[in-house]
Amino acid sequence: MEAVILAAGRGTRMHSQLPKVLHTVGNKPMLIHVINSAEFAGAKKIHVVVGIDGERIKEQVRRFPIQNEVSWILQREQLGTAHAVQQAVSHFESKAEGDHILVLYGDVPLIKPDTLVQLLLNTKTGSIGILTLLTENNRGLGRILRDESNKIMGIVEEKDASDLQKEIKEVNSGIMALPADRLGSWLGKIENNNQQSEYYLTDIIELAASEKVAISSVVISNEIEAQGVNDKSQLALLERHFQMTKCKELLDKGVIIKDPSRVDIRGELSCGQDVEIDFNTLFEGDVTLGNNVKIGPNAIIKDSSIGDDTQILPGTIIEGSTIGEETILGPNARIRPGTILGNKVKVGNFVETKKAILGEGTKANHLAYIGDAEIGKNCNIGAGTIFCNYDGANKHKTLLGDNVFIGSNSVLVAPVKLEDDSFVAAGSAVNTNIPKGNLAVGRTKQRNISGWKRPSKNTEN
Ligand code: UD1
Ligand code: MG
Repeated sequence: MEAVILAAGRGTRMHSQLPKVLHTVGNKPMLIHVINSAEFAGAKKIHVVVGIDGERIKEQVRRFPIQNEVSWILQREQLGTAHAVQQAVSHFESKAEGDHILVLYGDVPLIKPDTLVQLLLNTKTGSIGILTLLTENNRGLGRILRDESNKIMGIVEEKDASDLQKEIKEVNSGIMALPADRLGSWLGKIENNNQQSEYYLTDIIELAASEKVAISSVVISNEIEAQGVNDKSQLALLERHFQMTKCKELLDKGVIIKDPSRVDIRGELSCGQDVEIDFNTLFEGDVTLGNNVKIGPNAIIKDSSIGDDTQILPGTIIEGSTIGEETILGPNARIRPGTILGNKVKVGNFVETKKAILGEGTKANHLAYIGDAEIGKNCNIGAGTIFCNYDGANKHKTLLGDNVFIGSNSVLVAPVKLEDDSFVAAGSAVNTNIPKGNLAVGRTKQRNISGWKRPSKNTEN
């Protein structure tokens, strides 16, 4: 089986500079969802028909892992779905009897591989298989025409349908399996004398029926799988469905999700046992949560892994980091890429870390910036501590041994090394290394001036 994905439509109703099929569901372009489904359904080659914005589409698709290289077909003018498939015909490798070409749409992203497999299994050698749906929401869709013996005889587009035909509730999803050996000759016979002056792929059905080719159908049970995206409302609808499905999978595995309508998973989230996810939480990229991890509310976690028994308190943002066990982050902590936190670490409110390693038991409870640092075990980073890692041109590292204590409102000017058990007096500017066990006092001595008069307000003007 080979697949051809139609993706040349302009998508005018999206009101966007971005090609329609690059709009995302779950942070993945719609076209990638369709390519992945075709792959899982067993397509040995995938052709994608694109229009003039094809280069942009290709560029984006390359960013995603796809098993086989996609064959790109240019349809210069969008003259209809039959015209689109026709552009691809000469590129099909399967031409033998029994081979099928699976037609998919780039803007129908939630189609499941299982459904495609079911359609293919149901479509006998030499016959056509159509994925249809029975729906009250038949507006704008092609109606399936059947004869008295219930045989499919054709498909009529809504714009060409009679009032009686418009009442038909069985509609064309657009997804079809067509016999590879006969497809070319049928496409050659299709004309565009219809309301839209387009070459309709759906006209193939009537042609095939007149040649006594068997036409079977599989009715989609879950309508949303066949839902196309023409505008932003439909895109939002599919996004919510996609998210609900992701949450359902996690709920089924035992994760506690307080409100599945307020969780977004834009990537892969894997969870251990007894994980709890509160509301308004966003997971992006690859995120792994260990056993008994508690998240949120209002937390954002991207491309990170979090160890067992760790708590992510409200408003915390974590990106590109590895977090140990029994660690507590937040509320409102910002953990930036390259952060590696050991077990039993605490990073509290308004603390920002970047490229920072914090050893077991180390605490930075409030208001600090920790960048380009390697910190040992059981250190205490006082409130208002700033790791000055940038000299205006280059970044430098700060190294702390174990049991180091940094008094509040200190600056550590990198490169600098603070050895085990060293102690920094509050308000110090530290720019020379501190030997093991030393106290560093890096501030001017306080003077008390008696009889001092406060400035008074200038009343002259
Ligand atoms: C099509 C079907 C209709 C079906 C509906 C399901 C036809 C004639 N009609 O109608 O029976 O119920 O889908 O959603 O096939 N495309 C191209 N090149 C073109 C025209 C379209 O690549 O020249 C692509 C579009 O990007 C889209 C797909 O084909 O991905 C469907 O085209 P669209 O214009 O949306 O067809 P519909 O009118 O919705
Ligand atoms: Mg459409």
